Amino acid sequence: MAIVPSRSGKTPQGPSRPSGAGPSSGAGANHPVPQSPQRQVEATVEEKGHADEALRPHRLGDYIGQTDLKQVLHIALEAARCRQEPLDHLLLYGPPGLGKTTMAMVLAAELTTRCRITSAPALERPRDIIGLLMSLEQGDVLFIDEIHRLPSMAEELLYPAMEDFRLDLAIGKGTTARSRTIDLPRFTLVGATTKAGSISSPLRDRFGMVHRLDFYNPRELQAIVERSAKLLQMGVQPSGAQAIASRCRGTPRIANRLLRRVRDYALVKVFPSIDEQVVAQALAMHRIDPLGLDPSDHRLLRTMAQQFEGGPVGLTTLAAVLGEDPDTIETVLEPYLLQIGFLQRTPRGRRLAPPAYDHLGLIDLRLSPAMDQRLDGQLPIGF
Ligand code: ADE
Repeated sequence: MAIVPSRSGKTPQGPSRPSGAGPSSGAGANHPVPQSPQRQVEATVEEKGHADEALRPHRLGDYIGQTDLKQVLHIALEAARCRQEPLDHLLLYGPPGLGKTTMAMVLAAELTTRCRITSAPALERPRDIIGLLMSLEQGDVLFIDEIHRLPSMAEELLYPAMEDFRLDLAIGKGTTARSRTIDLPRFTLVGATTKAGSISSPLRDRFGMVHRLDFYNPRELQAIVERSAKLLQMGVQPSGAQAIASRCRGTPRIANRLLRRVRDYALVKVFPSIDEQVVAQALAMHRIDPLGLDPSDHRLLRTMAQQFEGGPVGLTTLAAVLGEDPDTIETVLEPYLLQIGFLQRTPRGRRLAPPAYDHLGLIDLRLSPAMDQRLDGQLPIGF
């Protein structure tokens, strides 16, 4: 069973330091060395493998963005404190990287309790969820990521645990089977999912609060980048923070990842501080365009334009042509492309929207005179 204490990362992934640190002969090599000698030899907290951890806000007051959710939780926390009861169960949904795990950890910190973190695929066998529930202490926050992937047996065990803080176990089989009930401490379940539509309604109905996390706006993202840069002791100009904010697809996790890539670039190329130009150069090297789209996005958009004449095209067809997992397309690539108006969902499948053609420098064949003729039935498609 994968349970980690609240202060450790879900997926530690400490980036290694660039091998050629120090002055180089590349662009910017004549700039002064940015960091103190001590900073250049010492590994920071995040370089030791706690990348996300080091940058997470710990209290509600430090959490930037998601204003509506914070307001709701502020009231719920105050009420729970007044009544000296655990917080109601909370279901968070939305695209990956928007801070669902972070929010669960913030709630535990606000309640001064522990946060137990696990993921539904790790609760494969009944004994996994039983062991987890029996290890809880009064007031604990239990965070289950990807809760839409919970096996049905685990889900059945969770219902009485959520409703009545009770574990109903069946012992033995057939005519000798007996049932046993174990009382559990009162806890708060925080479920997270990128696929709210895949959660069964009985499970969904047992959450007292259900909230969607939205993409962050540019102002919030700039504040997050500036906060992270401060924690990493980096010199980032407002124009640099803005440039990262506009390339991070509305997602703090991506903002922090890009910040680290820019930090590597500035270190190796010896830029004293990070401005818009440094960000543009660093991220162009990683093939991230000014809107934050990467080669996977470009491939998807180009395939739709060139092979499907802009659509509509079904998810499974698109996934097969791209050789991608449909789930990845649906939960990772598409949400931001929909958000910026590059894609549209129609009952007949996905369609490419005019801004995507403009951004890629492609002609919308459907709008060209030749295609008008084809659509009018004068020429067969593909002629
Ligand atoms: N780092 C990552 N997400 C954050 C957020 N929402 N607020 C502050 N810092 C963050």
